[in-house]
Amino acid sequence: MLQITDLDFGYGNKPLYEDVNFIVGNGQKVGITGPNGSGKSTLLSIIMGEEDGYTGKVKTSGKIALVPQEIKHDAEMDKAESVRQYVDQDYFHGDFELKRMFNGLELNIDLDSDPKTLSAGQKTKLALARTFFQNPDILLLDEPTNFMDKRGKAWVMEFLSDYQGSVVVISHDLELMDSAIDKILAITPHNSRIDEYKGTYSDYLRLKGQKDAKTKRDHKIKTRHLKKAELRYNNMRTAPRKAILRRQIERERQGLPEMPQALRKINIRLPEPKRIGELPIKVVDVNKSYEDLLVLDNISFSIYRNERIVLIGPNGSGKSTLIKILMGLTSPDSGDVENDSDLSIGYYSQEFETFDFTKTVIETFCEKTNKGEEFARGFLGRYMFSSEKVFQKVGSLSGGEKTRLSIATLTGIDNNLLILDEPTTYLDVLSQRIVLESLKEYKGTMIVVSHTPEFIEELGPQRAFLFPEQRMVSWDKKLLDRIADI
Ligand SMILES: Nc1ncnc2c1ncn2[C@@H]1O[C@H](COP(=O)(O)OP(=O)(O)OP(=O)(O)O)[C@@H](O)[C@H]1O
Ligand SMILES: [Mg+2]
Repeated sequence: MLQITDLDFGYGNKPLYEDVNFIVGNGQKVGITGPNGSGKSTLLSIIMGEEDGYTGKVKTSGKIALVPQEIKHDAEMDKAESVRQYVDQDYFHGDFELKRMFNGLELNIDLDSDPKTLSAGQKTKLALARTFFQNPDILLLDEPTNFMDKRGKAWVMEFLSDYQGSVVVISHDLELMDSAIDKILAITPHNSRIDEYKGTYSDYLRLKGQKDAKTKRDHKIKTRHLKKAELRYNNMRTAPRKAILRRQIERERQGLPEMPQALRKINIRLPEPKRIGELPIKVVDVNKSYEDLLVLDNISFSIYRNERIVLIGPNGSGKSTLIKILMGLTSPDSGDVENDSDLSIGYYSQEFETFDFTKTVIETFCEKTNKGEEFARGFLGRYMFSSEKVFQKVGSLSGGEKTRLSIATLTGIDNNLLILDEPTTYLDVLSQRIVLESLKEYKGTMIVVSHTPEFIEELGPQRAFLFPEQRMVSWDKKLLDRIADI
C-alpha cells in the first residue's frame, strides 16, 4: 500500500503541488497525467525517497521499485557483465522466459551482450524487464512505452493491467489499460493541485471533459459580470461608493476560475540555413546487415534541397540504421553515401546523448549555437524557457523541457539538414505546438521519424521512405493511416 498525506513540494519558492492526499491500495492501478514540467516524475522520486525538501507524509509497505523516464546511471547495469546477469541475477528464470519478456518489450538483443553497449532506449527496456522479473509490491513507472511502437505499447500496458501488485504509471498510453485503471491523479500546475478521478481511464476523460467545460462556462459568466462592474465603476461619481465597488471587483477577479494555459501562436524567426547544393545527400546501392539479418537491401535515393521526408516503419525495421548511415555514424557494408561538402546536420533523438547534464540551459544553448547571451535569452524565451529557467542545469530538466531545449538548439544554428527521430514523444500539447511552429518555419531539408499523424500532416512532407519495403514514394495523405498504425 502507498499513502501520501498533506504533501507540499516545490523547487525554490515555486510550488509544484500543495496539500496532496491520496492512497494506492494493494493491487490498484493508478495513472498520473499532467503537462510537461508539472511534476509527474518528481512525484515518483518523492515516493521512492529520492527527493528531500517536502513536507507531509509518504508511507509505503512492501517492496517498491521505480523505472525512471531515462536511465541516467544504473550502478547495477555498470557492474553486470551480461544482459542476462543484469536482468536476472540469481539465474532464477530460464532463457525462454527472458526471451519472451524481451520479445514483448521489443528488445532485440543477445542475452550474453554487455549492457553498457546498449542505446538509451534499449537500456530503459532492459531496466523494465529486470524490474518486472523482480515483481515488487508497488511498481512505479515513468513513461515506460516511449521507445516502443504500437505492438510493444499494447504488450506493456496489458502486462501492467494483469500485474498482481500495485502500479503507479505515468504514460501517454493509459487508454491501452483503460478498464484496469482504478484512478487517475491529474496534476494541474496553474493551481498546484493534484485532482483525483476514481474509475477507469475513460471515466476520467469524461469527467475531466465535463469539468473543463464547466470551468470555461464559469469563467465566461464571471468575466462578463466583471466587465459590467468595471463599466459601472467608470461611470460612478461618488468616491466612497467607488472604493467599495473597486474592492468588490478585485475580490471577484481573484475568485475567477483559473484557466489552463492557452495555446498561443508563436513566432520564431530562425537563422537561414547555410547554403548547399541541389542534392545534399545521395545514397547509392547501400547494403547493411547485422550478422545474418539483412537490414538495408541495396537502397538508392537522393535527397533534394529543402524537401521534407518522413521515414515510416515499425520498430527494428531499419529506420535508425538508415539514419546512422546518413549521418556517417555507421558505415554501409557496401555502397556509398555522398554528401554535399556544405552539408551540416542537426540531429535529435529522444535519447539526449549529446547533452552535458552539468551545464545550464543557457550555457548549453550558447555553446552549441555559438550565439551570445542576449540572443539566447530571447530565443529560449520563445521556446518557453523563462528568465529563471535558463539558469537551471540540463540534468534536472523534465523530459519535455529537454526536448524543447534540443529543438531550440538545433533550430538556433544554420544547419541545412535536420534529422529528427520522434521529436514529439515527450511533449504535451502546448510544447508540441511550439516545436511544430518552429519546424514549419525551418527553411532547410528535414528527415523525420514520428508516430504522430497530426504532426506529420501539419509538417507537410513531400516524400516518404517506407519500411519494410525500403522504397521512396511521393507523399500521399493515405500514409497517415499507416503512421497511426505503427
Ligand atoms: N533541481 C531543480 N531545480 C529547479 N527546478 C527543478 C529541479 N529539478 C526539477 N525541476 C523542475 O521541476 C519541474 C517538474 O519536473 P518533472 O520532471 O517532475 O516534470 P514532469 O511532469 O515529469 O514533466 P515531463 O512531462 O516533461 O517529463 C520541471 O519544470 C523541472 O524543470
Ligand atoms: Mg517526467
